Amino acid sequence: EDRPPFEPPYTDHEYEGIPMTGMVPKESLDAMKTFEMRDGDVVVLSYPKSGTNWMHQIVHEILGGKPETALPKTLEFFYLHVGQVQPVYAQLQQAPSPRLIWTHLPFQLAPPGLSTPINKVKVIVMLRNPKDVSVSNYYYRQRCQLVNSPQTWEQHAKDFLDGKFVYGDYFDHVLGWWQRKDDPHFLFVKYEDLKKDFPSSVKTISAFLEKELTDEDLARVLTNCSFESMRKDFEEQEGRKEIIRKGIVGDWKDHYSTEESAKLDQKYRERMAGSGLEFEFE
Ligand code: A3P
Repeated sequence: EDRPPFEPPYTDHEYEGIPMTGMVPKESLDAMKTFEMRDGDVVVLSYPKSGTNWMHQIVHEILGGKPETALPKTLEFFYLHVGQVQPVYAQLQQAPSPRLIWTHLPFQLAPPGLSTPINKVKVIVMLRNPKDVSVSNYYYRQRCQLVNSPQTWEQHAKDFLDGKFVYGDYFDHVLGWWQRKDDPHFLFVKYEDLKKDFPSSVKTISAFLEKELTDEDLARVLTNCSFESMRKDFEEQEGRKEIIRKGIVGDWKDHYSTEESAKLDQKYRERMAGSGLEFEFE
């Protein structure tokens, strides 16, 4: 079926109350409601700046490092690039299995088939402590001029606290997906744990994906997914080098004032209470 190319400008908008970048048009979000998942699909899911690209690279390497799942051709459910004839979800419908898909969709906007285990879909949710997520978003927003990009750190810290953010409030997003914590086709991985013990985290992920890794495979995954290696790869790709910035736990300490930190701590305690979800901040 021939379709006309989507035309810019892709203006920022809200969808069911969630702020969205103009890269994600309403039509694509509507299409998610009936988007069909397939057996063998692997989905990497996260709140922006939680380490999505890192996890994507890890899964790509675990699956064998083939070009179909490589990062430059990464498949997001509905990113739409200027001049493209089809939105990504339409390309995805035609992509051969196994599909490696990544997305920042909040729970309520994701394809229903993703969170109901009728298909043999595997979902990896990448999580990161909110303060480092906030700092990483700050630099990214400045560069990309995303929805209401702030001029100052102070404004950014307030926006993050207030949940006025692309893809919605951090806590709503994380707790939305966390409802699936006991579901065997979901794996939750924390950025801080990857940093602490990378080899054992990779083994957990490969076991979840039912892929056996030889020692040689494991060594390749660790090498190709290291910060240094990814920085080098991304530097060669237009528009992507900013993603690999600092890659540490605790960068927030150089950004958050005592008062800003206390306010976010309070929201963290209130929202996480009783959830069983906790983060390390340093
Ligand atoms: P910082 O901005 O704190 O450095 P996303 O992929 O969701 O956009 O997340 C980007 C964040 O993940 C950035 O955080 C980036 O540096 C970090 N990251 C990406 N690859 C990494 C790696 N191999 N090791 C550690 N951190 C990585």
